[in-house]
Amino acid sequence: MIVGVLNQKGGVGKTTIAVNLASCFSRSGRRVLLVDADPQGSALAWSAARQVDPDFVVVGMAKPTLHREMPTLAKNYDMVVIDGAPRVNELGRAAIMASDLVLIPVQPSPYDVWAAAETVQLIREARQFKDSLRAAFLINRKIANTAIGRDFHAALAQFPETPVLDAALIQRVVFAESAARGLSVLEVAPRGEAARELQRLADLIIADKERQAA
Ligand SMILES: Nc1ncnc2c1ncn2[C@@H]1O[C@H](COP(=O)(O)OP(=O)(O)OP(=O)(O)O)[C@@H](O)[C@H]1O
Ligand SMILES: [Mg+2]
Repeated sequence: MIVGVLNQKGGVGKTTIAVNLASCFSRSGRRVLLVDADPQGSALAWSAARQVDPDFVVVGMAKPTLHREMPTLAKNYDMVVIDGAPRVNELGRAAIMASDLVLIPVQPSPYDVWAAAETVQLIREARQFKDSLRAAFLINRKIANTAIGRDFHAALAQFPETPVLDAALIQRVVFAESAARGLSVLEVAPRGEAARELQRLADLIIADKERQAA
């Protein structure tokens, strides 16, 4: 299964989520490939900051032909996670076309809702060629112990074909602390709250994979 973590908006948590999801999937025994599809090379930089190799493979592939190369790339893996590039539409399109499921991280702010329209539009266009494509919003950097405003949910509901996943990630300092050392949250604090939330997200994705396969 190929999971694209994509949003044309910068800084919403794509790399953070992609790296940690890859780590989550590989800890549950799956063969995992993390594709850095961003010319900034942030996932590759994460991997280079490590003392030891991660227990999954990281490759750079910031190319508008990613979707064509994906079948060959993905052949020997159970799960592929794509860390998407912001802003560049042709890279966004290729990453969307390469994915079975697109996760769109959004922070609970009106700016993120306004900016989401662009990514949703790319997904609409991609569905004309690939109607099996699935996509969902993933709320990231939610402030702990706050209800997400009804207005925020209502605003996201203007994109009815893109549901909001029932697995938000909370704003937590462990995400930046672990990244600085080239580690995943699961390596730094495997029993922490952030690890538990990531595991819940990974479980939802695997359940989706199994439903599609059934
Ligand atoms: N849940 C979170 N809690 C705390 N900090 C977070 C969380 N998610 C992301 N961040 C921080 O937000 C910043 C941006 O995250 P990240 O680089 O993953 O975003 P991005 O979408 O990949 O950015 P770009 O568009 O530049 O590729 C980083 O400093 C990261 O540590
Ligand atoms: Mg990034």
